[in-house]
Amino acid sequence: MAGIYIHIPFCKKRCTYCDFYTEVATQFIPTLIDSIVKELHIRKDYIQNETIKTIYFGGGTPSILNKSEFKMIFDAIFSLFEVESDAEITFEANPDDLTTDYLNTISFLPFNRISIGIQSFEDEDLKRINRRHTSNEAINAVKDAQMVGFKNISIDLIYGLPFQSVDAWRNQLDVAFSLGIQHISAYGLTYEEGTELWKQREEGIIDTIDDETMNKMYELLLETVSKNGFEAYEISNFAQPGFRSKHNTSYWKNEIYIGVGPSAHSFNLESRQWNVNSINQYIKAINENSNYFEKEDLSIFDKYNDYIMVSLRTSDGIDLEFIKLNFGDEFVHYCLQNIKTFIDSEKVDYNNDKIRLTSAGNQISNLIIMQLMKV
Ligand SMILES: C[S@@+](CC[C@H](N)C(=O)[O-])C[C@H]1O[C@@H](n2cnc3c(N)ncnc32)[C@H](O)[C@@H]1O
Ligand code: SF4
Repeated sequence: MAGIYIHIPFCKKRCTYCDFYTEVATQFIPTLIDSIVKELHIRKDYIQNETIKTIYFGGGTPSILNKSEFKMIFDAIFSLFEVESDAEITFEANPDDLTTDYLNTISFLPFNRISIGIQSFEDEDLKRINRRHTSNEAINAVKDAQMVGFKNISIDLIYGLPFQSVDAWRNQLDVAFSLGIQHISAYGLTYEEGTELWKQREEGIIDTIDDETMNKMYELLLETVSKNGFEAYEISNFAQPGFRSKHNTSYWKNEIYIGVGPSAHSFNLESRQWNVNSINQYIKAINENSNYFEKEDLSIFDKYNDYIMVSLRTSDGIDLEFIKLNFGDEFVHYCLQNIKTFIDSEKVDYNNDKIRLTSAGNQISNLIIMQLMKV
């Protein structure tokens, strides 16, 4: 079983915190769709004859596409691959794109899950980070998506935004849980070098949140999701039982996928490939049948390190039996040796051959991962 990720690298304007590869160059949409369809043909053999269990349109802004543009991509996918009848098919959407007209037109497409990038329900926050929508638009987007029949809705929120207080974050969560959604991705704000937000911090014109407040916000998040019956199944991902993101879970379980479009990644257990992150270069290379991606063959160390990096952040944790079967006893020994201090300091829990982060460990997950890496 495999997944397909399609990257739609367009944004109508850039948010101050974001360093994902996107451009404000919507005139290229039709040509890019042609190239994406061609790449799907090229990539067909990369995943052998695996059936498709998830399809995910990410961005950028997939909700910038109209029904016929999506349809061209779906036609290619369904003609080239065997898509399972219960496949999870998601698209990311920006709230201001989700008018009732738009939702009605795309409701005829095979989507059964929508991930809405809300980030904050506070208009002041939204203006500061240069989002295109207001709080009301965000709330209406969720309600309208429910009204046209979406029964699996996720929203993205960011905590630790400049000037945000713990109480303000509590209010955000209250609004989120009042909407009857099935899934939340909540990310602690990171300052990515080169972004507008990074510059604002350098210039000292924004009030950043200290680590202690960030930790309190994360604790509050964990309490609130649990009170609302959601599972914390990954550091930043929370779902009602039965509504975990199958697509993201497949990344964390080391399953194979193809990534199509500029800057998308592909993985087939033996190699990783990543497409050029330029719309122009991507379109040109696909048209000229020249190379449009870089490739890395994965050594046993790469595979072990990848496994550690993704599995420690999930509620299933690191499975030593999996390590033994896939990498051998030497790696189990190495892992146990390096995790010992974190077991003693209760940053991780070690039980039944599984290593899982405790809530204290969540705050230092990157440090723990670094200690477990093998080079
Ligand atoms: C690349 S965006 C795509 C979603 C869509 N374009 C949107 O903005 O709604 C995926 C998610 O990553 C999160 N994100 C991006 N940059 C971040 C940052 N610097 N810190 C925390 N979260 C971030 C946001 O929650 C965002 O919705
Ligand atoms: S957060 Fe989303 S809309 Fe904003 S710049 Fe990044 S990809 Fe574009």
